[in-house]
Amino acid sequence: MVVDRLRAVINLDNLIHNYKLLKKLNHDKEIFAVVKADAYGHGSVECSLHLEKHGCKYFAVTVLKEAIELRSVGIKSEILIFGKTDPLNASYLSDYNLVQTVDSYEYAFKLSQYGKKIRVHLNIDTGMTRLGIFAQRIEELEKAVSEIKKISELEYIEIAGIYSHFTSAESDKEFTLKQQKLFDELLKRLKAEKINYGLVHLKNSSGLVTLDKNLYDLARCGIAMYGYPPVKTDDEFLPVMSVYAKVIAIKEINKGESVSYGRTFIADKEMTIATIAIGYADGYMRILSNNDFFYFKGYKLPVIGRVCMGLTMINVSGVDIQEGDEVEVFGKNKLLEPMAKRALTITYELLTNMAKPRIDREYIKK
Ligand SMILES: Cc1ncc(COP(=O)(O)O)c(C=O)c1O
Repeated sequence: MVVDRLRAVINLDNLIHNYKLLKKLNHDKEIFAVVKADAYGHGSVECSLHLEKHGCKYFAVTVLKEAIELRSVGIKSEILIFGKTDPLNASYLSDYNLVQTVDSYEYAFKLSQYGKKIRVHLNIDTGMTRLGIFAQRIEELEKAVSEIKKISELEYIEIAGIYSHFTSAESDKEFTLKQQKLFDELLKRLKAEKINYGLVHLKNSSGLVTLDKNLYDLARCGIAMYGYPPVKTDDEFLPVMSVYAKVIAIKEINKGESVSYGRTFIADKEMTIATIAIGYADGYMRILSNNDFFYFKGYKLPVIGRVCMGLTMINVSGVDIQEGDEVEVFGKNKLLEPMAKRALTITYELLTNMAKPRIDREYIKK
C-alpha cells in the first residue's frame, strides 16, 4: 500500500551515530537504550534490533508488554522494566528473563511470592517523588539501607542493579549534584553493610552531557539517542525522525473567507490554501493552530486556522505546490525544539506523539 497521508522516516544510521556518541561520552561504558513508548515514537522493535546489532546490550522499557514484544522479535540483551509489573504477572518476568524495577520491600516481597528467581534493579528516589525507595534526606538514609537489606534477604529476589533518576539535570546543577550525593552516599553505606547491589546507573541524557565526573556502570539514554539532547552541547547529535505529510487538496479563497473550525483565520486578501493530511489524532497538537509552519522547498508555509483531527491547512499563496506533494512537519529543515516551544511542550512529547499506528514508518540505513 502506498503512503496516502503521512510518514515518519527513521534514520537508523543516525540512531547508531548518536548511540556511539553517548557511549563515547560515557567513557565507553555501556548505555541503556531507553526504548519505552515505542522508542519515543521511532519504533522500538526496529530501533532495538538495529541497536543490538551494533553492540547495545541493555534496553529499558516502561511496561511488561513492551519487554515481551522485544523478546518475541529476538532481542537477547538485558531488558529492564522501569514501571511496576503487577505481581500476578511475575511468571512473565521469569519466563522472558526480564529485569524488574523494585521500589519498595512490600513490592519485592509480593514478587518473591511467585517462588522462582526474579532479577530486579532497585529504584532510589533521590528527588523525583515518583517511584523509588525514599532517599531524599541524608539524615534518614539508614531507613533506605534497612529496606534494601530486607529486600536483599528475600529468597527469590536477586538484586542485579540499582539506580536513581534526575529531575532536572538540564537546568538545575545544584539539585542534580544533591541527588548524586545522596545516591553515592547510599551506595557507600550499602557497601559498608556488604549488601550487593550489582550494576549502578544514574545519568540520563542530560546528566551524561552535563556531568563529566562520577562514572557509573551505565547511563540510561533516550532523548539524546533520538537526536535531541535537552542541553546545549558541541557534540553533534543527529535527528533520527523526520515527518512528512501529503497535500491532499488545494483551494483558492477570497478576502473575508475563513479557514477551519471556529473561523479563527479570515483571509485579508486572495489566498491559496493547501489541506495537509495530518491532525491532532496523528499527534500534531491542536495548540499549533495558527502557530506553526510546514517546510516545503525552501518555504516556511504557515499553519492557518484550527488544526483538525486528521487535517491541517497552510497558506501556500505564490508557491508552486501540487496535490500529492509532501511537506516536512519536522526534521532536517524544520527543527523540533522551536516547534516544541510553540506547542508549550518538550521534544519528548512531540516525538512520542508520533507513536501512532495510523502513521506509516519508513526505516532507512546504509
Ligand atoms: C527512569 C528513566 N531513566 C532514563 C530515562 C531517559 O531519559 P532521557 O530521555 O532524558 O535520556 C527516562 C525517561 O524519561 C526514565 O524515566
